[in-house]
Amino acid sequence: AKTHHHTWDISYQYKSLDCFEKLAVTVNGESPGPTIHAARGDTVVVTVRNKLETENTAIHWHGIRQIGTPWADGVSGVTQCPILPGETFTYRFVVDRAGTYLYHAHYGMQRVAGLNGMIVVTEPAGAAVEPFTYDGEHTVLLGDWWHKSVYEQATGLSSNPFVFVTEPQSLLINGRGTAFNCSQLGAPTGSACNASSSCALPPAAALFTFVPGKTYLVRIGSLASLSSLSFEIEGHSMTVVEADGHYVKPFVVRNLFVYSGETYSVLVKADQDPARNYWAASHIVGRDTTKTPIGKAVVSYSSGANGLTTPPPTAPPAGPVWNDTAIRVAQSRAIVAHPAHVIPAPARPDRTLLLLNKQARVDGHLKWAINGVSLAFPSTPFLVSMKRGLTGAYDPRPPPDTYTAAGADGVNATVRSAAYRLGLGSVVDVVLQNAEMLSGGNRSETHPWHLHGHDFWVLAHGDGEFDPAADGGRLVLDGRDGQDRPIMKNTVPLHPHGWTAIRFRADNPGVWLFHCHLEAHVYMGMGVVFEEGVDKVGRLPASIMGCGRSKGLRH
Ligand code: C2O
Ligand code: CU
Repeated sequence: AKTHHHTWDISYQYKSLDCFEKLAVTVNGESPGPTIHAARGDTVVVTVRNKLETENTAIHWHGIRQIGTPWADGVSGVTQCPILPGETFTYRFVVDRAGTYLYHAHYGMQRVAGLNGMIVVTEPAGAAVEPFTYDGEHTVLLGDWWHKSVYEQATGLSSNPFVFVTEPQSLLINGRGTAFNCSQLGAPTGSACNASSSCALPPAAALFTFVPGKTYLVRIGSLASLSSLSFEIEGHSMTVVEADGHYVKPFVVRNLFVYSGETYSVLVKADQDPARNYWAASHIVGRDTTKTPIGKAVVSYSSGANGLTTPPPTAPPAGPVWNDTAIRVAQSRAIVAHPAHVIPAPARPDRTLLLLNKQARVDGHLKWAINGVSLAFPSTPFLVSMKRGLTGAYDPRPPPDTYTAAGADGVNATVRSAAYRLGLGSVVDVVLQNAEMLSGGNRSETHPWHLHGHDFWVLAHGDGEFDPAADGGRLVLDGRDGQDRPIMKNTVPLHPHGWTAIRFRADNPGVWLFHCHLEAHVYMGMGVVFEEGVDKVGRLPASIMGCGRSKGLRH
């Protein structure tokens, strides 16, 4: 196995990702940052130098389980102190499973500002275990983009009255947005708005090249901050073969729904007319966003006489109906493990957490709360305070395992820095229960939930309110019907008005965040923290300490 060393300078730069110039947090001057390539079993070492001048940072390696290295998970307030301006911090971890993963800032809402990228882990040479073949590869990182700064967004979310971030101005594909319409700004056209028709085409838009007749593995991930997305390549069907680093029983789609924090690999055959170009497009689903232009990139057949920058002769695809939840739930249910790559799930849990996802008011401020508790990130990282017994650094009372009928109806919550304590090695079920928005109108949102430090089995997506008596049986895997092949993932959507059940083994000593991957939601408290076997964690590196009550522990 190899060791891959990277040195990253994190800095603000002027960028025109969607042709509108604004500051972005970059890795070595780029947003998205470079794709990290490694083979299964390799070690990745990233030396991060914070050159933001006035802002902290921390970087999370999304989907990497950090087995034995919980201090490298990169979550400010959970696994480390933030990296101060001018400081250097080194992440060192093993990538122990092939697949498509992500990285991004995990400090406040900093991810929104552009610090993100992909991690591609391949099978080591000679280990031909992939249950499919292909001729070439492309990576597609989906995102959304605002012209308001992170500070303005975060201040609005924590103000009373509440100021929403609004819908994004653009959807990005590999960090490129199509021409933002300057006239929508309602302000005099200034030098900051450079939109022109050429903005819609490469190099302003991302470009993917196909050789006719070849089959491509397209690795797709989303680090959108708010948007649930649908991705498609005009005229081409896609066969889904991998999700979050696990092989899928293949199924064919025209458009793939991708929730923030998820990754998929699809096979695409270059089987269309090579004499023209095609659109690759992303659309928002689940929110009425007719104001956000669709995300566009260009697919070009290299053999064609057409130039790479010739626009496709067609209008971009219209995308699916934004508010059809049923087709999205159906696609979520279609994702099951490849028959030759099933990792059997334990038949039953040792403990079940029933987590109600609800908006709440705390002193008049709008929050998201889980069983009445809205998460506040403590100034001392949980990993340090729990391992070193720093009392007073967090709330020692764990949040409730379930909610009451009164809790389901109430609007009140408390803001706390508390963690669930899980038995090391125990099997835990989590049933995520959705609810309606406080604003009423029978509205309910999509929440993609991401678990750090583990993969989980996706047991079920249900409608309405979970009933332990009636629905509990659906979660028992007795192996009798041959259908008990839940896929393992690290991110899964909780659909509007529904529930989602997952199961995992709490076998990775450390302290791990489990949260809604929408940046505004986790900022408003939509997450929980799991501790398991913290006493078994090895010696903590001094570099993660130095803040809050860990001040004196640095040396
Ligand atoms: Cu990609 Cu805690 O998230
Ligand atoms: Cu959410």
